[in-house]
Amino acid sequence: MVELTEYEKDLLNGIYGADKQKAMELIVEYAIALGAKKLVEVHSITGGLGASKDIMADLKSNDYDMEKIYCEYKLNSSEKVSVNKVCVPTTTLINLLDFDKIDELEISEDIVKYCKIADNFSKKIGMQNLYTCAPYLSGFIPMYGEHLAWMESSAVIMANSVFGARTNTESLESTGAASIVGRIPYWGLHIKENRYADYHIKVEVDIDSEFEYGLLGYYIGETVQEKIPVITGITKRPTLEKLKHFGAALAASGGVELYHIVGVTPEANTFEEAVGTKKNQKTIVITKKELLETYKKINMHQNKSKIDFVIFGCPHASLEQIKEIVELIENKKINKNVKMWILTPYSVKSLCDRQGYTKIIEDFGALLLSDICPAIAGLVPKNTKNIVTNSIKQAHYISNLLKCNCYYSSLEKCISAAITGEWNGDLNDIEI
Ligand code: F3S
Repeated sequence: MVELTEYEKDLLNGIYGADKQKAMELIVEYAIALGAKKLVEVHSITGGLGASKDIMADLKSNDYDMEKIYCEYKLNSSEKVSVNKVCVPTTTLINLLDFDKIDELEISEDIVKYCKIADNFSKKIGMQNLYTCAPYLSGFIPMYGEHLAWMESSAVIMANSVFGARTNTESLESTGAASIVGRIPYWGLHIKENRYADYHIKVEVDIDSEFEYGLLGYYIGETVQEKIPVITGITKRPTLEKLKHFGAALAASGGVELYHIVGVTPEANTFEEAVGTKKNQKTIVITKKELLETYKKINMHQNKSKIDFVIFGCPHASLEQIKEIVELIENKKINKNVKMWILTPYSVKSLCDRQGYTKIIEDFGALLLSDICPAIAGLVPKNTKNIVTNSIKQAHYISNLLKCNCYYSSLEKCISAAITGEWNGDLNDIEI
């Protein structure tokens, strides 16, 4: 039994329109399935239409009727109703293309047509078309304690852990319905008691670079799976960028949606605060040995390879991360057999244009792209076989999705691979 307010009952009874009624039906059904006793008001949604070739195919076979497709995919309704504006700030996740680089990326006409229709429709219903997995880099920042309905694992873990907002990992349908009625079931990570740590991770090795945070996150994720870890032993304060890589790794290898770092994240001023009323945490000790094992595993025990593609920006790169890359490539040239992409939100790309970073990147022979992600869009340069990236999440997914070899390395080694065409990931050369 889900307890509804008078307003929620009116939504369900169709007083505010058929789209809100459909959305409310979905949210209530979802709450019943989860065993939630009530709903909670949400203040931001990250979901959008989704970079989906299934939706694209269905749109084509339905005479490009986007409203019908929206009802089907986002409201779980086979009946088409008129969709009005979203009632909560809502952003779109990754797209299938970069509208400014259609020719360079050799995007098919079908994809361009679908993306334009979807883009217009989401604007029409009031969504913000950010097309990024890192909306917080474009000013879409959740507040501490705020309830959200976000999807995309790296965004969800960032919202929960670093910003202290509250969201479960939502779906295409639940974010669609929540954006229309501003409600989501009150369960899981919306409830304070469910946010306390199950595992105590004692780090006994110095962790500082993004590369090390990626390895640490990947190892912890594999170990704790979907549980909540609290981490102690981090001696140098991490930047937002390092936590972005850390969270993406935790979510990729294990499905973690929330972590705490004592003295760093907002719900862990002390160890006691992070564990709250939960008792008997399992303790895991992490030393250099575990990080080196993770490195060997993610890189399939390879330590050298010819490279034809280099990827940066998973999760989407910040302005500071792009500045670091630019400083390493200025006045240099990419190897003629290698392509290199840097992925970032559109707003950050605009700032890179103004800073002169885009020109340096293009003079080097690489592309600065917004809105896309190779793993999600299934998009890499033709004949790509061997990839190197500074993102352990991208390395985790892309090998399987695109049947390529993908290696995980530090920023500096990725840049060196772009210039020489060869990746050297020898364990003896790894600085941890
Ligand atoms: Fe974002 Fe794609 Fe990585 S969605 S987190 S760039 S796998």
